[in-house]
Amino acid sequence: MLIFRYKMRKCVVYGGCGGLGREIVNYLKIKGVWTLSVDIGSNDAADANVLVSLTDGWTAQEKNVLSAIGVVLKGEKLDGVINVAGGWAGGNTVDPDWVKNADLMWKQSVWSSSIAASIAAHHLKTEGLLVLPGARPATGGTPGMMGYGMAKAAIHQLVKSLGSECSGLPSGACALGILPVTLDTPMNRKFMPDADTSTWTPLTEVARILNNWLENRERPSSGSLVAMLTEKGNTFLLLEN
Ligand SMILES: NC(=O)c1ccc[n+]([C@@H]2O[C@H](COP(=O)([O-])OP(=O)(O)OC[C@H]3O[C@@H](n4cnc5c(N)ncnc54)[C@H](O)[C@@H]3O)[C@@H](O)[C@H]2O)c1
Repeated sequence: MLIFRYKMRKCVVYGGCGGLGREIVNYLKIKGVWTLSVDIGSNDAADANVLVSLTDGWTAQEKNVLSAIGVVLKGEKLDGVINVAGGWAGGNTVDPDWVKNADLMWKQSVWSSSIAASIAAHHLKTEGLLVLPGARPATGGTPGMMGYGMAKAAIHQLVKSLGSECSGLPSGACALGILPVTLDTPMNRKFMPDADTSTWTPLTEVARILNNWLENRERPSSGSLVAMLTEKGNTFLLLEN
């Protein structure tokens, strides 16, 4: 008698409580993927949760998240680490809060992305997937949202380093940056009720693409920055580098 051992795929969703993060957790669950959410709160739809303490500094967050994930995984390896933590804040140089906002953007986007990279280095399988959250506008100047642009540009740079030889990732690992313009999230719907949503990228479409990459289908080459563009409700990908 033949016995097939089916190994459930495993994926960390960093920022698993956000608009996009929840959609990805739900989508991967339907596809039979075991999910671990890392966020400041729990996502009950995930199979496991690791909580980040915002009172911790950058290095303490990395140490505590890595240690908690090690305890949950018990030596098992991950198929994917998808980071969609982040946020948005505006402001140019005359905005009294622009540096404060830049500090928050750095913490939300760059701290989380570097910790996600550490998780991948320690726990990803060979040929595993690492995805970090960039933003298309940050491929150019972003005068109305300077801190956001700086943080996202740093992520773009990190993706390129991770996609280079000797990045420390397991062999054959694929590091990609997703660069949306506007996502069709509940929060964007709430705060921009009159906007033209035909150019907003649906969350299910992002989740579908990420699941394809997780299954090693249609992956761009490692280090790619992948713009996600939507026109008249149709989403397509464009490589930026
Ligand atoms: N919403 C958009 O239109 C849009 C456009 C371009 C890029 N993006 C980027 O896509 C990603 C997903 O967007 P979203 O709208 O789902 O964001 P969101 O604000 O709904 O969710 C972000 C999640 O990240 C978590 N988070 C923030 N800092 C964290 C930290 N240090 N550690 C752990 N968790 C942390 C938050 O608690 C939240 O659950 C973000 O990186 C965002 O900047 C979004």
